[in-house]
Amino acid sequence: MQASELGGTILIVDFGSQVTQLIARRVREAGVYCEIAPFSMAEEAFARLQPSGIILSGSPASVPDEGSPRAPQVLFDSGLPILGICYGQQVMTHQLGGEVKPGHETGEGGEFGRAFLTVTRDCKLFDGLWKEGERHQVWMSHGDKVTRFAEGFEIVAKSDGAPFAVIADEKRHYYGTQFHPEVVHTPDGGKLIANFVRHVCGLAGEWTMAAYRDAKIAEIREQVGDKKVICGLSGGVDSAVAAVLIHEAIGEQLTCVFVDHGLMRANEAEQVVGLFRGHYNIPLVHVDAEERFLSGLAGETDPEKKRKFIGKTFIDVFEEEAAKIGGAEFLAQGTLYPDVIESVSFTGGPSVTIKSHHNVGGLPERMNMALVEPLRELFKDEVRELGRELGLPDAFVGRHPFPGPGLAIRIPGEVTKEKCDILRKADAIYLEEIRNAGLYDAIWQAFAVLLPVRTVGVMGDARTYDSVCGLRAVTSVDGMTADVYPFESRFLQNVATRIINEVQGINRVVYDYTSKPPGTIEWE
Ligand code: XMP
Repeated sequence: MQASELGGTILIVDFGSQVTQLIARRVREAGVYCEIAPFSMAEEAFARLQPSGIILSGSPASVPDEGSPRAPQVLFDSGLPILGICYGQQVMTHQLGGEVKPGHETGEGGEFGRAFLTVTRDCKLFDGLWKEGERHQVWMSHGDKVTRFAEGFEIVAKSDGAPFAVIADEKRHYYGTQFHPEVVHTPDGGKLIANFVRHVCGLAGEWTMAAYRDAKIAEIREQVGDKKVICGLSGGVDSAVAAVLIHEAIGEQLTCVFVDHGLMRANEAEQVVGLFRGHYNIPLVHVDAEERFLSGLAGETDPEKKRKFIGKTFIDVFEEEAAKIGGAEFLAQGTLYPDVIESVSFTGGPSVTIKSHHNVGGLPERMNMALVEPLRELFKDEVRELGRELGLPDAFVGRHPFPGPGLAIRIPGEVTKEKCDILRKADAIYLEEIRNAGLYDAIWQAFAVLLPVRTVGVMGDARTYDSVCGLRAVTSVDGMTADVYPFESRFLQNVATRIINEVQGINRVVYDYTSKPPGTIEWE
């Protein structure tokens, strides 16, 4: 996208820190559009983005080491404001003529975790926030440190372990922090970054989802022209938002295909079809493939084989339907920014970890189509915001993530229609109770699991011998790690009672207390 369409942008140069994505979050929270580029591709991104300021990230590398990454010289020649964070501060210092020493040479072990700094001078970065003489909590994580800064710089804050905790050259608008302002453990960090992008770089902070939507619509029209686009809907938020956005851009040139594998939650297929056909009037092919999936799954108990069969069959069905429509040149996908960042390592080469749990992963290569990925610059919560901007109902946009293989990976052992029906009922009761208690939005994902275990119970005066239902609820930021949601026991007792009373086939309910790691969120 062009800088002019976005009200000014910031370029974040990534040297491989684990938390570079958080810098982007903080900049966007300040109402400014930004993109991350690996240092090796930063020059190209700089020319394309025409940013109003630059942020240099942290890194696992060490500036004094030969071959450690450097920022392209063009960034320093541009005359634009630069904020260097941790390694970014050190590399800036080094490239501008200062000195950085490794921890083992300074005889100090570095600083890790919470630290306190003292402000020694006022500066633009601290505007309206920190004053000379004050002490503030920050989060440090560095072994090396600046031992002599480059000409023009002054110390504006120091900590016990880092005499150059914050340095500034206010004439050139260069700032360097030894600590990480992007992490939550630096309580004022978001405001410091907002000060940089607004006060130092002079950006208005008016980047909105409405502006993003308009710019994207123009971009999609330009990319697609009068050609046809096909989009696989999974029932999830990402593909739905991508489809609605593309439909706004090119209308009837878009066809959506919803492969209903019969492993959806209660009413899910109806909701998707109703929303797309009824509400938006978007051309939608609804393929009822329940029989095909369930017969293929019959007798299979191995989790990986179940997953592989579902993935492959999904692609087969999708391809068959695409062929019926005939001649779409583009395939739309709801790829998000974290997937994009994770698939390119900071050295610019392909990363070893490519996400395996993409719903329609494998399609682009097989179908040899060009991709339309209108969400590839957005984070999950920004996608939700864009969905609301496009008029998608709150209840749809705020839904918990649901895995591509659906209920099949929540039924350990063999999957049958009967088991799916039992699980759908239990899951619906659980989610209804969570919603009634006002807890839905506080939970990342909550679902029921049907175990391949039968236990003895007594109902009325009769003996029962039925299945066990497991309940799971976790909090998470990105699904990579997760904590167990701590329900009150009265709530769980109530859910258990309802499920046992209302769902025939279940006579016992257990709650899963496993965090991730060591568990995964799904059971298979
Ligand atoms: P795990 O079970 O790996 O799940 O802790 C992490 C997150 O990913 C979701 N998940 C999937 N999503 N296709 C998807 O679209 C899949 O095959 C898949 N497997 C897991 C899971 O629901 C959780 O949000």
